[in-house]
Formats: sequence, structure tokens, C-alpha cells
Amino acid sequence: MKKLMYITMMAFVLMLAACGSSNTGTEAENEGESASIEEKKTLRIVTDAAYAPMEYLEGDKVVGFDIDLIKAVTEEAGYEAEIVHVGWDPIFVEIEGKTADLAISSITINDDRKQTYDFSVPYYLSTNKILVPADSEVKSGADLKDKIVAVQNGTTGQEVAEAILGVNSPNVKKFENNNLAIQELLSGGADAVIADNTVVEYYAKMNPDKNLTVLTDDSFDAEYYGVMFPKGSELAAEYDKAINAIFENGKYAEIYKEWFGAEPDVESLKAQQ
Ligand code: ARG
Repeated sequence: MKKLMYITMMAFVLMLAACGSSNTGTEAENEGESASIEEKKTLRIVTDAAYAPMEYLEGDKVVGFDIDLIKAVTEEAGYEAEIVHVGWDPIFVEIEGKTADLAISSITINDDRKQTYDFSVPYYLSTNKILVPADSEVKSGADLKDKIVAVQNGTTGQEVAEAILGVNSPNVKKFENNNLAIQELLSGGADAVIADNTVVEYYAKMNPDKNLTVLTDDSFDAEYYGVMFPKGSELAAEYDKAINAIFENGKYAEIYKEWFGAEPDVESLKAQQ
């Protein structure tokens, strides 16, 4: 009888132990899983969301081609994205001061900026164009010499305008964001706006009542946009890999078609690497 009780007890103890250990196992697994989800680091991504259709605000939501792109690339690289509209000048302050991990904002990669910041491989081809009233006598960049040109401060558009009108020319009016430069044109305070083709073309198309036209000047350079990082950031190489991955797997083309209704020339972007 005693023996039987002992066996029953032992069986019970073993059963408990088995339950216990299997429980522990499951918990450990669960913990492992949730930990790895939580551990996915969230990156602070800054932008100037006043540059439709690249980055702009819809209510308080930041949307645009660049935004869909950076979300896809960030996911590919294994991070979470926190995208914050801070404005143009603050982007450079944050990246230099390393209070943000990276910036996407139609930022042209150039030698000047490369001295202070690191860039990803190019992800978009752009050039500056001239936005004027449809009845303007201005037909090219050279015609802007004795005109007033509105630009966003600190952009390549400002450089292009100053190359024509002279550095620090009072006839180059500089604004904190590109929408304010366009407002200046609409209110008659400027004869033209110089900014990136995609943006001025989009504005003219979306606002037919404003009777604006976009002029191409072949002497304006081709520019490439890159994702911008603090100098020495290890993320740059990871993002290059992720950008190339979405070039290859069709995600880049999908986003591009969604925004621009056309097939991107991925090969020519890759040729710039
Ligand atoms: N591509 C130009 C530059 O890098 C203009 C970019 C302006 N971007 C913006 N989100 N406002 O200087």
C-alpha cells in the first residue's frame, strides 16, 4: 500500500515537473519573441513636409513618395520608423547634432553637404526648373537676370538662382519653405520660383486655376537625392543595402508607380553608385 502511494506520488511529482518545465519553455519562447519585437529599434527620421508630392502634410500625417520609400527601406533594414516634420533648416541641425538618425527630404547629394553629412546611394533623379506665370516673358534661366526669384533658403534652387543673379543678390528672395516661395510668386512679389522639377510640375498641375507654367533650362544640373545621415553613422551602409534590396525586389518600382504613374529607371540610378 505504502509502495503504491509512493509510486502515485512520484508520478504526480513528475507530472508537475513536466508541466512546469513545459510552461517555462513556452514562457521563455514568448518572452524571446516579444523581446525581439520590442528590440526593433525605432529611428527618428526628420523631414521638411512642405514639398509635395515628395513629403507633405495631410492633416498632421506626413505623406509622400519619400515617406513611403523611407518606410519601405527602414522596414527592409530591420528598424521602426518615427517620421517627424521638423522643417528644412532643423533637418541639418538635427543630423549634425545627431539628435535624429537620418533625414529624407528630397535632399540633393553634393560635395558641399558631403563634407558634413553622409549620404546613401542615390534614390531619385531631379533637376531644378523654373515656375512662372503662363504669360511670363521669361523663357529660360538667362531671362531671370533682372527679375526677382523666390527660392527655399539653403536649397540647390537658391544656388541656381544665385548663379544667375549673383550670390547674396537682393533679387533672390529666400523663404523657409518652398510653399512660401510659391506664395510670393502668386502674390506678385516674385517673377519666378526655382525648385525641383517634380515639385514645381506637381504644383502647376494641381493648381490649373493659378495659370502657371514650368520652364526647363538645360544648363541646370542633374541632381540625385539621397538619404542623409550624421557623419560616420553605421546606418548608411545598412540603408544602402536596403535601398538596393527594394530596387531588386520591385518595391521601389511599386512605390514609384503609385506616386508618379510611370516605371522608374532603376538601372540608371544603380549606375550612379
Ligand atoms: N533638392 C533640393 C536640395 O536638396 C531641395 C530640397 C528641398 N526639400 C524640401 N523638403 N523642402 O537642396
